[in-house]
Amino acid sequence: MSPSGTGVWAVVVAAGRGERFRGDRPKAFANLAGRPLLAESLERLDASPWIEALVVVAPVEWEEPAILLAEELGAGSVRAVVPGGATRADSVRTGLAEVPDEAAVVLVHDAARPLVPEEVVERVVTGLADGWDGAVPAVPLADTVKRAEGETVTATVEREGLYGAQTPQAFAADVLRRALAGGDDATDCAGLVEAAGGRVRLVEGDRRLLKVTTPADLALVEALLRAAG
Ligand code: CTP
Ligand code: MG
Repeated sequence: MSPSGTGVWAVVVAAGRGERFRGDRPKAFANLAGRPLLAESLERLDASPWIEALVVVAPVEWEEPAILLAEELGAGSVRAVVPGGATRADSVRTGLAEVPDEAAVVLVHDAARPLVPEEVVERVVTGLADGWDGAVPAVPLADTVKRAEGETVTATVEREGLYGAQTPQAFAADVLRRALAGGDDATDCAGLVEAAGGRVRLVEGDRRLLKVTTPADLALVEALLRAAG
């Protein structure tokens, strides 16, 4: 697959409340280096030659600020801004409803992961070749993994073969639509596609794609941004 006339759409889910972040506004609008967090991933995905068009799923009552942000960024590939749902999967469903049937491939990305390297976009899109239904960027776990009940450790889990899954995740559009039709929730779309019997592969992720969950994560992302110049 080549980047021109790609038929690749991306849905950026930004509709979460950010409860663990505990900010005074939805997490997607938290301040990252003077701009809303959402700006960073939106700008990067808009600039990617692999992506033809974008749908932004905004927090309820934050559609207007999201539209203004897209205009300010000159993000010409944004085709729709829609309000999100109660769960992440609901928000993806709402965004996917804006993606036309002609789109062959859909990327789903968390606005909470602002630092999207272009190489990762390329890896997930090209990773769908050879009939894969989904391609997920992943990084091998670095820490030793413990299972616990309360504070009591019950097992040390073999780390071999364990990965942290990131976004953007790429899917064959029809497979993603069918997997989401179920109405279930999951912390990522690949989980739903796997549960529906889809063939999902890993591609190399990137440590910079960390997810902003707390203000400390935001500070780390800001430091990485500054270091990159
Ligand atoms: N998300 C969404 N709609 C929801 C829940 C989550 O669009 N109903 C999005 C978030 O905006 C985020 C991504 O899914 O970009 C990953 O979710 P998470 O990091 O858990 O964000 P929040 O749900 O906002 O945070 P929290 O769980 O702390 O409330
Ligand atoms: Mg959440």
